[in-house]
Amino acid sequence: MKSPQFLQLHRPDDRALAAGAAAGLLARPAQVSPKFFYDALGSRLFDAITELAEYYPTRTEAAIFERHGAAIAQAALAATGAQPVLVDLGAGNCAKAARLFGALAPRRYVAVDIAADFLRQSLQQLQQAHPLIAMLGLGLDFSMRLELPADTVSGPALVFYPGSSIGNFAPDGALRLLREAREVAAGGALLIGADLVKPTALLEAAYDDDLGVTAAFNLNLLKHLNRLLGADFDVRGWRHLACFDAEASRIEMHLEARGATTVRWPGGERAFRPGERIHTENSYKWTPEGFGALLRRAGFERLQVWTDPKGWFGVWLACD
Ligand code: AVI
Repeated sequence: MKSPQFLQLHRPDDRALAAGAAAGLLARPAQVSPKFFYDALGSRLFDAITELAEYYPTRTEAAIFERHGAAIAQAALAATGAQPVLVDLGAGNCAKAARLFGALAPRRYVAVDIAADFLRQSLQQLQQAHPLIAMLGLGLDFSMRLELPADTVSGPALVFYPGSSIGNFAPDGALRLLREAREVAAGGALLIGADLVKPTALLEAAYDDDLGVTAAFNLNLLKHLNRLLGADFDVRGWRHLACFDAEASRIEMHLEARGATTVRWPGGERAFRPGERIHTENSYKWTPEGFGALLRRAGFERLQVWTDPKGWFGVWLACD
């Protein structure tokens, strides 16, 4: 039975993570990186979010690929040549990339994700279903820098970054990542999904659903911090907030203290006033023109975009 190769390039250092989280709690206003959402339960809660009626991005992007998949694959192959290397950023369960295998026939699939154990399992299953495609898993945190080991990609590649995860980067960080993705593509192309600006009520409902799944996803971050830092957050003392800042063009997620509370952890503490917040996530929403301009600033010259009939989500193919 064929096995995928796997390289662990990122070793999570719990002490450094805890120090970063503590510094964020002490900052004014307090802020904690969204990477702390994704413990085992948080990853499941995110999967549940993608099934919610209010959370349109996942199914809208999937519908774009269903409707335009053949044209997208044809345009991608025109940029990379036949049987490209497919580099999947934030691959997770690899399901979105696997849906492209039929049309792209990649000679090599390189799946990159910070959650190395989950990625390893996903790749092992995928390899059984596609024994002819060489597969490499890279356990890597590319949120600060995207650089693949030498020889991972030979010749023009297709870099795939779906799901509007680019929206969780502020514009300068997004530009940096797009530039690095262009380097990885080495003259090939970037295939990327980005969520688009739409009426505030739709955006806010997507991040504050009726069932409270997104609230649980946000609050679970406090439980994660309790474990990581040894903190004593009482989750019931906090409430989930999601609001669209039209000027910054981003959904902001916060946790708000219901009353006065002091959170303690070994070596630190922070007193919160009633209504004081911890900022946990930004999710930027782009206009088609704005995202096109960002891709151009990253060095891509030829752009093609596919959207859904309501213009809620965009899939771009960006080439040199
Ligand atoms: C992973 N990322 C694209 C999601 C988003 O929409 O920004 C994370 C998320 N946060 C709350 N709901 C979903």
